[in-house]
Amino acid sequence: MKNQDKIKKTYKEKIKKLFNFNRLYFEKDSPIVSDSEFDKLKQELLQLAKKHPFLKKIENLDNLVGSRPSAKFKKVKHSKPMLSLGNAFKKEDMLDFKKKINNFLNNKSEIQLSSEPKIDGISATLRYENGKLTYGLSRGDGVFGENITENLVTIGDIPKNLVEAPKVIEVRGEVYIGKQDFEKLKDKFANPRNAAGGSLRQKDSKETSNIPLKFFAYGIGEIIPKIFEKQTDLLKKLKTWGFPVNPYCKIVSSIDEIEKNHSAMEDLRSTLDYDVDGIVYKVNDFNFQNRLGSTSNSPRWAIAYKFSSVKASSTIRDIAIQVGRTGAITPVAKIDPVTVGGVVVSNATLHNEDEINRKDIRVGDAVIIQRAGDVIPQVVSVDKSKRNKNSKKFIFPDKCLCGSSTKKEISMTTKKTDAVRRCTRGYECDFTAKEKLKHIVSKDAFDIEGLGKKVIDNFWELNLVKTPADIFSLDYEKIEKLEGWGKLSINNLQKAINKSKNIVLDRFIYSIGIRHIGQENAKILGNFFKKSEKFSELFNVKKRKDILKNLEDLDGIGDTQIKSIDDFFSNKKNYQIIQSLISVLDIKNFQKINRTGKFSNKNIMFTGGFEKMSRSEAKALAEENGAKILGSVSKKLDYLVIGNSKPTKKKIEKAKELKVDLVTEESWYNLLDR
Ligand code: IVH
Repeated sequence: MKNQDKIKKTYKEKIKKLFNFNRLYFEKDSPIVSDSEFDKLKQELLQLAKKHPFLKKIENLDNLVGSRPSAKFKKVKHSKPMLSLGNAFKKEDMLDFKKKINNFLNNKSEIQLSSEPKIDGISATLRYENGKLTYGLSRGDGVFGENITENLVTIGDIPKNLVEAPKVIEVRGEVYIGKQDFEKLKDKFANPRNAAGGSLRQKDSKETSNIPLKFFAYGIGEIIPKIFEKQTDLLKKLKTWGFPVNPYCKIVSSIDEIEKNHSAMEDLRSTLDYDVDGIVYKVNDFNFQNRLGSTSNSPRWAIAYKFSSVKASSTIRDIAIQVGRTGAITPVAKIDPVTVGGVVVSNATLHNEDEINRKDIRVGDAVIIQRAGDVIPQVVSVDKSKRNKNSKKFIFPDKCLCGSSTKKEISMTTKKTDAVRRCTRGYECDFTAKEKLKHIVSKDAFDIEGLGKKVIDNFWELNLVKTPADIFSLDYEKIEKLEGWGKLSINNLQKAINKSKNIVLDRFIYSIGIRHIGQENAKILGNFFKKSEKFSELFNVKKRKDILKNLEDLDGIGDTQIKSIDDFFSNKKNYQIIQSLISVLDIKNFQKINRTGKFSNKNIMFTGGFEKMSRSEAKALAEENGAKILGSVSKKLDYLVIGNSKPTKKKIEKAKELKVDLVTEESWYNLLDR
């Protein structure tokens, strides 16, 4: 073996080892080596990569050599969830954001936005009661954070007492390490963000205090009483309390201002002592923020406008096909490994068949790769001048990896043919089935800690899991013999799997992956069926027809969803798969958030446009007050609310016929005290 090959081999082996240690720590919280052993291995790898730069092509250490938590911290529920932000990448995305806000609020004037640099660090929340810092949490999964108070108090930037503070206030912000300070820590961590994250989650707060962590405050969680009217007022007050607030925060409104601000900040970026990966735009008025509210993951009132992505050139060596959980066939370019923004990329998505044809992308082509933030790297363009004369056009396979033919769907709403080819065999296709399993164990579904995508791949190959029900009867004796598994990690896996057996109906519905049924729709269905026994009736041909008819009344469930549910439940394989899964679970009834409001238990429908609010806001307000929104006029309807602008005559007539109460736009405002 050549010397270089030997080094490569050692490097690969060490990475594998470290990868396993890391996985046991991060995914399972079950260490099998001591801290010093882990650190030694980490150092060896870093030294090797430094000495032999060619190794960097094999595997980037950024993702492997993070810092691990030395111990578990106590998990604490956030008083208000720490949401994430939607992303914008270009002017059009920002125009879209502005339009959506104005539509929701039914507002015509230019809305003020607070523009704040998006610091690339680790977010934390600090709770002050009667002006005293009581505890501090990491973001965690957004719902539960980790109690890292002892480490947070070592940060000099964070005040321990606030003068004339409200009874309760939670200050949220970003913990980071300055670029200069990071220079001294470079050998230990891959980048400043990793360093900040690692230091914050040290078990020993003395270790944390040795690292120069800094803080920028940018928001609040719970606050009693509510004393602020605007984001700008909040930032001002945070400053007087002694929190560092980023000096580049400012107010903007028009799209031109946003664009100008964006490029100015992008130019400034390299001169700053901290990493900034974009600008966060927030609706300045808290009253508007409240009205806008949030979707399941992110607020409607804020967005992160990312800086332009980093590009690099490479060559396509092969075009492979991947099958997703919905059967979608995605072409993936296998490229010569190239570093794009600090990460080694060797796969890039080509989206779909149309995209390949449009750009005439071929194997052997020199291409430009782009990676923006956490988005999957993509092929942006081909340099045709470098193309080999003998290169051949790529013929997109019309078959799935399972050998069966694929289809392009026609949208029921737009009547357009989808650009994506799909394998329609669902659980009958092994490739789709494996992806469905990955979805089932994922965070928003069964949320089984320790059973990630890689583990599923591994277990699948070993025939340990083939169907969802298999997860609940794993052969642990066999797993214990596998590399990387020990008693402790198996114990944890078993616990996590058992815990997940108690699942609420709507989560279950989302988990089984019916096409076009995402989290929101699963909630609507959960609320409709209430119990899993009722939901299972969909498998009964006769009952299904009636149920589907009733589903038509639900707002949010349209023809596309109904057809998809019909398809799913008429499939024999699905029947087997889902029934055997149900038989090993304890599915909890849908928990309705009992909203006792003005419209408690009332069915409401809207027609026409309103002057003072959008349809979305009207719906949100009705729901907040306990109403159920229906999508068609039927006997079940209690109120038909008629907006002044172009209501549908037919609906009003039908409602009159059925003696449904009609509510005018004016009385609607009265009901809401607006
Ligand atoms: S506001 C619900 N403001 O970006 C809105 N976030 O993906 C919460 N971040 O987790 C965030 N600078 O870690 C906000 N000025 C800023 C920020 C900021 C950095 C981070 C934060 C958050 C992530 C959003």
